Amino acid sequence: MIKRLPSLIHTGIPATALAPMQDVTTLPFMKIISHYGAPDYFVTEYFRVHESSILEPHILESITKNNSGRPVFAQLIGERGSDLTRISKELQKHPIAGIDLNMGCPAPKVYKKNVGGGLLRSVEEAKRVISTLRNSVEGLFTVKMRIGFESDEEFFQFLDIINDQKVDMLSIHGRTVKQGYRGGVDYDRIAEAVSYVKCPVFANGNITSYKKANWVAKKTKAHGVMIGRNAIRNPWIFRQFQEFNLGKNPYQPNFLDARDYVERLHTSMLNKNVPEKNHLGMLKKFLNFIGLSIDPDGIFLKKMRRAQSLTELFGICDQYMVHTEHANNPIHDEPFDGLLARPNRESNCS
Ligand SMILES: Cc1cc2nc3c(=O)[nH]c(=O)nc-3n(C[C@H](O)[C@H](O)[C@H](O)COP(=O)(O)O)c2cc1C
Repeated sequence: MIKRLPSLIHTGIPATALAPMQDVTTLPFMKIISHYGAPDYFVTEYFRVHESSILEPHILESITKNNSGRPVFAQLIGERGSDLTRISKELQKHPIAGIDLNMGCPAPKVYKKNVGGGLLRSVEEAKRVISTLRNSVEGLFTVKMRIGFESDEEFFQFLDIINDQKVDMLSIHGRTVKQGYRGGVDYDRIAEAVSYVKCPVFANGNITSYKKANWVAKKTKAHGVMIGRNAIRNPWIFRQFQEFNLGKNPYQPNFLDARDYVERLHTSMLNKNVPEKNHLGMLKKFLNFIGLSIDPDGIFLKKMRRAQSLTELFGICDQYMVHTEHANNPIHDEPFDGLLARPNRESNCS
């Protein structure tokens, strides 16, 4: 395990990280993202930690088979000290960059168990869990949190824990747990954290394009930007951000590139044991994001959601991405207004 943070600032450019996303940041998706332009860091979706928990193989493989050359942090969600210690020790036998604690998952069934965002209900509980992990992790220990549970009143008390427990890196999604994905992201709070904590901070929440990433990095002075949903929509976003910061013209993916991306999702996630219906559902989950930059009227989204087979789905993709006069034009940089996906299903985290 890496014991010291690899240099976060290379050539003065803020670092980038792909946000952990349950059922999304799998090994195949990390490979696809790396193909189009890898971020500096990956974070796994969370390993559940409880009395009988084991390292779930499908998450573990995103660590053991990661050949992107980029460090991957293993994220944990849990609260029982003995189990957190046990699982973090097991994980440290694998090639992880560090252990990350999930302190932001807003799904009620999660926070009701006092894990994820539930840890932000009590400063004392958060302190206990963070200090347990700090003591059991020999290398890097990082935290991903929101700005509070119902309000941000205790924000600085949580930041004091980050300082006192010598957390190595902090990612902040600038919303409260109760906000879910609604309302604006409080980048001012993230900026305050950047100047208050001793460790590097990654700004997270609603970073929709490389231009917005640049705006957020400047506004918050964060050491890095963490991008989730808009990396699903536009997997070139990390490359674009890096090129922009190096003074180059950022790569502008076109509709044919978007079709190539859909094909890669299909082939890399295809599993003969998974029925077509489930595979179709998985592709639609990704297309719900991709579609936000394909057609401003949302017709593509409507049609693809109704597709009953893979053949039908790919026909619709071809119609909008290949057999169209604008196939060689760039896709929209930002998601079209009014089409924004609603990811705040109960199961979605942080
Ligand atoms: C489908 C989905 C799954 C998520 N799963 C996790 C998770 O396992 N752990 C976590 O810390 N955050 C999780 N998140 C939250 C993201 O990491 C991120 O904080 C949030 O989406 C805000 O960033 P964005 O606006 O760039 O998407 C998830 C988000 C989504 C949309």
